[in-house]
Amino acid sequence: MCGIVGYIGHREAYPIIVKGLQRLEYRGYDSAGVAIFDGEKINLAKTKGKVEDLKKKAESTISLKGNLGIGHTRWATHGVPNDINSHPHYSNSGDLVIIHNGIIENYESVKKELTKRGYTFESDTDTEVLINLIEEVQKTEGVKLGQAVQIALNEVVGAYAIAVFDKKKPDEIVVAKLGSPLAIGVGDNEFFIASDASPFIEFTNNAVYLEDEEMAIIRLGKEIKLRKIKNDAVAYPNILELKMNLEEIEKGGYDHFMLKEIYEQPRAILDTYRGRLRASQGLIKMAGIDQNLEKFMNANRIIIVACGTSWHAGLVAEYIFEDLARIPVEVEYASEFRYRNPVITDKDILIAISQSGETADTLAAIKLAKEKGAFVFGVCNVVGSSIARETDAGAYTHAGPEIGVASTKAFTTQITVLTLLALKLAKEKGVFSESRFHEFLTELETIPAKVEKVLESNALIEIIADVYKDSTNCLYLGRGYNFPVALEGALKLKEISYIHAEGYPAAEMKHGPIALIDDQMPVFVIATKKGHYEKVVSNIQEIKSRKGKIIAIVTEGDTQVTELADHVVEVPETLESLSPLLNTIPLQLLSYHIAVMRGCNVDQPRNLAKSVTVE
Ligand code: G6P
Repeated sequence: MCGIVGYIGHREAYPIIVKGLQRLEYRGYDSAGVAIFDGEKINLAKTKGKVEDLKKKAESTISLKGNLGIGHTRWATHGVPNDINSHPHYSNSGDLVIIHNGIIENYESVKKELTKRGYTFESDTDTEVLINLIEEVQKTEGVKLGQAVQIALNEVVGAYAIAVFDKKKPDEIVVAKLGSPLAIGVGDNEFFIASDASPFIEFTNNAVYLEDEEMAIIRLGKEIKLRKIKNDAVAYPNILELKMNLEEIEKGGYDHFMLKEIYEQPRAILDTYRGRLRASQGLIKMAGIDQNLEKFMNANRIIIVACGTSWHAGLVAEYIFEDLARIPVEVEYASEFRYRNPVITDKDILIAISQSGETADTLAAIKLAKEKGAFVFGVCNVVGSSIARETDAGAYTHAGPEIGVASTKAFTTQITVLTLLALKLAKEKGVFSESRFHEFLTELETIPAKVEKVLESNALIEIIADVYKDSTNCLYLGRGYNFPVALEGALKLKEISYIHAEGYPAAEMKHGPIALIDDQMPVFVIATKKGHYEKVVSNIQEIKSRKGKIIAIVTEGDTQVTELADHVVEVPETLESLSPLLNTIPLQLLSYHIAVMRGCNVDQPRNLAKSVTVE
């Protein structure tokens, strides 16, 4: 993973780079570094730890003056997180410096070859090998930096987004991409380089997103030209005008991004269906489906691939598609699907769900399905991301930037898009009567207000969090549509509070987890009306008779579960298939408060990263 930032132009590079790195910390935060060229030499500071640690070190040890620089925030792959393995990395001569997001798979054989030629290495990283390979090419072939980078990249196998500069040529930065994202912000004779647009959005709305196997030599006083890494073909870049604004990527008065993003859900869900859902006209308009309706109507089945929270949204979608549109669905972890030689035909539709649109396993699953002839539809949040570009068609979630590593609004907006898709297909297939369709559309329109209502339980949830904050294990139970919600609730707690938690289908409890239940075990049960309410009530009785602590999510006005449970959180009534959109909110808030009370870093939990661009 890792985040990269670079700047060349007339401003001071250091503040832009450091602020940019802070915005990219969701990509990795175990170490960080900067290299700034002051007109004569490169000043480099790097450290294990967060960008805040880097700032302290850089500001007390090096000169920060200069209009050319690069910076990096790391999520370690090769080499433990320490000062030496942090980026940027120098070449042996000290002239070249690089930042890299990705993995060079054949670095050991290249390193051996370079060692024979007298190169030495300080770090354990694949990146230091790459920068020395570039230097070796420069020397032996007598070529300029751009060409040396190109030749070197043709000798390595792996994934990368890199930025390199040479102190002997301080008017240019060379960048290249394969597999990891790289955006160039284009200002007035100044250029910004970053893993996404957030580091430069306050300076320019104009951005160029490099495609895989593309590189660019960014030179002051010149227009950017893109070059294919493999064959020298030159292309003029497509400069996009970005709509993102600064406020969206800042905390806006909340203590953490995660809390802000939880609270943004009413607006995010509304933005997701805005312009698509027209309840009064009985219409759902979605360009990605309207233009490919035949494919969907003739599909034998839908295969959903995703990872993490997006995979949970896929599980909810399985219930929705099968229940509402009567289309067979399989949901797979992208990492399993890509390696298990799956049977795929051109009658299959693959739906890839990804907040970031960059997850390496999901991307690989898409490529595999395309090779086998399937039509691939993407559900992504990040506009212009790799998955959004790789898929045949798709629908954005429009949740706005999600910075907290634990996914919240991405989940509910993914479910919203997939619900719209299923409803549209149900209608087209004639599975739904006009009145049922209308009932769904009208109810969907009420969801943002109902989510708002759920958020009003925040104070109560904080009290419950205080009671259970010291638990060592928790169980989450749900049935039907709310089984994936139980999985997602458990994942949220694990991710940010480091409490072991398991999600289970409520009825499966008696086949194993029931053995864990004693008076120390909190069991979070989704027990809203509709669906399998009576059956869940029986499961609650089973927990109660074993003295488990019961915390239930119930429908407003509930009495039966309320009598049995130790704590309840009420949510407004809705259709069963829309209930995950409401029931997931209290579980997000609960995890948030427990993690805060335990002193955990909510937005940047240990060992995790938001965008997993390695397999
Ligand atoms: C990481 C993140 C999760 C996310 C998963 C899939 O593990 O920490 O929050 O759900 O990747 O990411 P995607 O961007 O593909 O949805």
